[in-house]
Amino acid sequence: MALVRTLVRALLGGLLCVLGPLGCEVDSGPAMAVTQPSRATFVHEAGPILAARCGDYACHGNANRPFALYAVARRRLRAADNFTSHPLTEAELDANFAATTGFLDHDRPRDTTLVQKALGIGGKGGHKGGGVFAAPSDPECRALIRWISGEQQ
Ligand code: HEM
Repeated sequence: MALVRTLVRALLGGLLCVLGPLGCEVDSGPAMAVTQPSRATFVHEAGPILAARCGDYACHGNANRPFALYAVARRRLRAADNFTSHPLTEAELDANFAATTGFLDHDRPRDTTLVQKALGIGGKGGHKGGGVFAAPSDPECRALIRWISGEQQ
């Protein structure tokens, strides 16, 4: 009887050695680094590109979209200011910056949901807005990728 018990224990011990690491190794995919690119470069370069190319009312210029933007002559923070052309306020710029950085969900800029959607290859389920940029080499797409990676413009 003692011999059987020893054998069983040895077997179990061996199994745990083999399966243990495999068992708890959960592949969570690439690390979801949250990058915090420059707000200043966003205000001068990336933000105006996004407002112009994504900010239409039927697209991201409305509060129903998780990625919702304010833009000059389109949706404004104060409803009374909608469609007016004065420059975006600091509060609108803050909101656009927060909305955009919320989709920087990968440590490789072009693999972020923001860029993937803009390329129309986007994330889960593609992008109903289609491929706004034809390729990452598109000058505006490159400017977005540079901004995300923190490279000098
Ligand atoms: C470079 C410009 C654009 C970027 C970076 C962009 C980015 C995104 C992101 C991050 C999402 C997921 C979050 C959300 O649902 O709001 C999304 C979804 C969506 N976008 Fe855009 N978008 C752009 C242009 C457009 C345009 C021009 C349209 C309309 C013609 C549009 C229509 C939509 C729609 C309907 C969805 C929800 C369904 C889906 O996930 O595909 N987008 N986009």
